[in-house]
Amino acid sequence: MIKDKIQSLLAEADTLQATNLDEVEALRIKYLSRKGIMNALMEEFRQVPPESKREIGQAINQLKETLQRRLTDLRESLECQADSSSDFDLTRTPYPIHLGSRHPLTIVRQQITDIFSRLGFILADGPEIEDDWHVFTSMNFPADHPARDMQDTFFIQRHPDIVLRTHTSSVQSRVMETTQPPIRVICPGRVYRNEAISARAHCFFHQVEGLYIDRHVTFADLKQVLLTFAREMFGPDTKIRLRPSYFPFTEPSAEMDISCHLCGGEGCAFCKHTGWVEILGCGMVDPAVLDANGIDSKEYTGYAFGMGVERIANLKYRVSDLRLFSENDVRFLTQFTSAQ
Ligand code: DAH
Repeated sequence: MIKDKIQSLLAEADTLQATNLDEVEALRIKYLSRKGIMNALMEEFRQVPPESKREIGQAINQLKETLQRRLTDLRESLECQADSSSDFDLTRTPYPIHLGSRHPLTIVRQQITDIFSRLGFILADGPEIEDDWHVFTSMNFPADHPARDMQDTFFIQRHPDIVLRTHTSSVQSRVMETTQPPIRVICPGRVYRNEAISARAHCFFHQVEGLYIDRHVTFADLKQVLLTFAREMFGPDTKIRLRPSYFPFTEPSAEMDISCHLCGGEGCAFCKHTGWVEILGCGMVDPAVLDANGIDSKEYTGYAFGMGVERIANLKYRVSDLRLFSENDVRFLTQFTSAQ
């Protein structure tokens, strides 16, 4: 019976196998060519009585499709195997691999924040486009202070109250207005000053600000933390020196030098033959700053410090021209490697 034949051919179709493309072709000839099994079946189909034609016809069509699909599958999988057994390993990573490198300022900023993180400082940040209050007024800058001068500060056009922050000390104010002591934060960020660009000055650069406020914080605490930082950053033999200075937001204020690690303090061109290089400004937070930012200066004291990241990077890497940091020249950038 033609019906049984179709059924057994259908079962057979699903089990057809071939180990190479020639065998697939042989199967095609056997089943689908002019003298093949399917055509013979079509001959038989003519004898089928009209009332069964519809049912048998559908079964034949299904069989033909199944055979065609099976042969196509066999052919494709054999072709695929042929591709992957060629000399190409498509899973191999292409060489040479050009790995990026970290920017020297990123490396140094990371080292600075890592050291202070280990001392219990947490990261904080604030906006680069700031208002006068956070950059100057709340930081105890008198209204006529020269740092507010057009020379130093970029103002946002038509908004004389909005500036590009000139220092990260503005983040001190941002933190104090939302947090009560104990406060212990480290704030890295970009700052802007209206300076002519040269090898020694740029209109933007980077700072890291530190702030610690609690009961009974003293200048001795500040000194110890900065000594620890200097030794971690520049090596265990590093010495520090604090010189009296002035900042509106700290009283007393100081600038910190470290012993020149290039000449070991002997004196060289880098330290201008003094044996010391300046790396940061610091001091005890002025009580007026605490009060302006909602912290009771009768109860709390604090210290703050701020350093330039480019300056520290120069000390570590002796970069002669500040502009190199922002030109994105890969010949410069790929010279820096970091352990992290
Ligand atoms: N804001 C100062 C500057 O831009 C740096 C500084 C000095 C920050 C003393 C401080 C500080 O927190 O206590 O030059």
